[in-house]
Amino acid sequence: MARILITSAIPYINGIKHLGNLVGSQLPADLFARYMRARGHEVMFICATDEHGTPAELAAAKAGQPVAEYCAEMHTVQADIARGFRLSFDHFGRSSSLRNHVLTQHFAGQLADNGLIREVTEKMIYSVDDGRFLPDRYVEGTCPNCGYESARGDQCDNCTKQLDPTDLINPRSTISGSTNLELRETKHLYLMQRSLRDKLEAWIGSKTDWPLLTTSIAKKWLNDGDGLQDRGITRDLHWGIPVKRGDQPWPGMEGKVFYVWFDAPIEYIAATAEWADAQGLDDAAWQRWWRTDKGADDVTYYQFMGKDNVPFHTLSFPATILGSGEPWKLVDYLKSFNYLNYDGGQFSTSRGRGVFMDQALSILPADYWRWWLLSHAPESSDAEFTWENFQGSVNKDLADVLGNLVSRVTKFATAKFGTTVPAGGQFGPLETALVADLGARIREYESLMQAMEVRKAAAELRAIWVIGNEYLQAAAPWTVVKTDPEQAQAMIRLSLNLIRVYAILSQPFIPDASATMMAAIGSDDWTWPDDLPAAMRSLEPGQPFTVPENLFRKITDEERTDWQARFAGVRT
Ligand code: MF3
Ligand code: ZN
Repeated sequence: MARILITSAIPYINGIKHLGNLVGSQLPADLFARYMRARGHEVMFICATDEHGTPAELAAAKAGQPVAEYCAEMHTVQADIARGFRLSFDHFGRSSSLRNHVLTQHFAGQLADNGLIREVTEKMIYSVDDGRFLPDRYVEGTCPNCGYESARGDQCDNCTKQLDPTDLINPRSTISGSTNLELRETKHLYLMQRSLRDKLEAWIGSKTDWPLLTTSIAKKWLNDGDGLQDRGITRDLHWGIPVKRGDQPWPGMEGKVFYVWFDAPIEYIAATAEWADAQGLDDAAWQRWWRTDKGADDVTYYQFMGKDNVPFHTLSFPATILGSGEPWKLVDYLKSFNYLNYDGGQFSTSRGRGVFMDQALSILPADYWRWWLLSHAPESSDAEFTWENFQGSVNKDLADVLGNLVSRVTKFATAKFGTTVPAGGQFGPLETALVADLGARIREYESLMQAMEVRKAAAELRAIWVIGNEYLQAAAPWTVVKTDPEQAQAMIRLSLNLIRVYAILSQPFIPDASATMMAAIGSDDWTWPDDLPAAMRSLEPGQPFTVPENLFRKITDEERTDWQARFAGVRT
């Protein structure tokens, strides 16, 4: 049994996420966590809300709420939706937690002690009318790179170039719209990432098994002229983690907070501590996941995220960890994703284009979305959601292939042999062939799941469902029953066992349907089918089963066109 630590990039607090966000981090992380648990490993699966920075402050202002209150409410909303999607976090934390305050200040203190922080006095945009500095998204203006007129202070949404607020042409305050801006001196802390360049390069260079998407982004940032810059890790904002050096005040930094991208990844650790607190456990309970001097040396740590997050996880956060000089766990494997587009364009939070997580659950159960999203995960390239494709996958894969098998078998069995597992006959050559074929496919499925090849694993699972249908077609118990009812009983017994094996194998993708299948065949033995011939004999003859409610319903053409119109844009 191995010990597996899994983190999903923590979603911003500023609103409900869309399906593109979900498939880029939380959902594949959940798939992997569920699979690893099913294989008997000890898993710690962590996520949280990312609550600091200008996105949180601006969203709270827009909602007319104090920012702390806004974050508390949105955290509950996001936690409820995560439960709705059956995301099986061991803990869903908050980056505004006390644990994260203490840990973030601790890391800053360590970095300072190790000579990796310098104080920089620089000129920043100050809004005279708003009476404050305007960092990051508090200022908008024209992009110097592409001319887009609504570029934000931290990044241009049009050309994706990372910006500094002072780069913008014709800057204006996003709070008041005021252009009465001036440059004023202010002091900030910089993390001297450049001094850690060699260590980071060696560490990234040692990761020969990482996906190309991950290493290519990391190396680009490491080697580009403007790649690994020293980085400002403080801001002139009120909401955030106060700048302190460990538990000591930091002279000259009063009233400032750490930059959101400094404290957010530290929340992975803090959320594990929050988990221990919630369980009434001591510090040793979370440290054995994170401190290699306290038991984490046998932990394998996997991170999941969208490609835009890769630089922060391959350079900035490791710089914090390495620079601390303390034995914290570094990531072992970083799985990153491309983008999911929506129906010929992009998902857009501001324009309400695409399907958001709450809306998705209001029209169909979680399993339908989980299946489509995972089987179309944007791994080797960007992927696109279209309603036609979604309808096709749900109706064919889920309803026609899996759902149909389950209902055919249970209905036929009930009609011919009653509501208990039939005892007659022996498995013949068709059954032996099925078990052999299935066994080989399960081993392939396992290796794809282990490798986090999400799409390929989904395709293999579908193929596993298909061979069950093919077996049934070839065996034709509905014909055999007329001449050799004993043999038909053996076929049905095998098919009922097959449903149980499918429930176990499918559970990481479609947990609700799997639970329904398992309950219908009257078992709760989730033992992974390492020994397939034994698994195919697991149900006792005479054991009762039921016909489940329709596992999956089909999506009609009318629904499809209706939804297509409804989610085309402008969310109110
Ligand atoms: N909130 C960021 C996003 O949605 C992700 C932060 S991941 C962390 O893009 F590592 F910083 F926590
Ligand atoms: Zn631009």
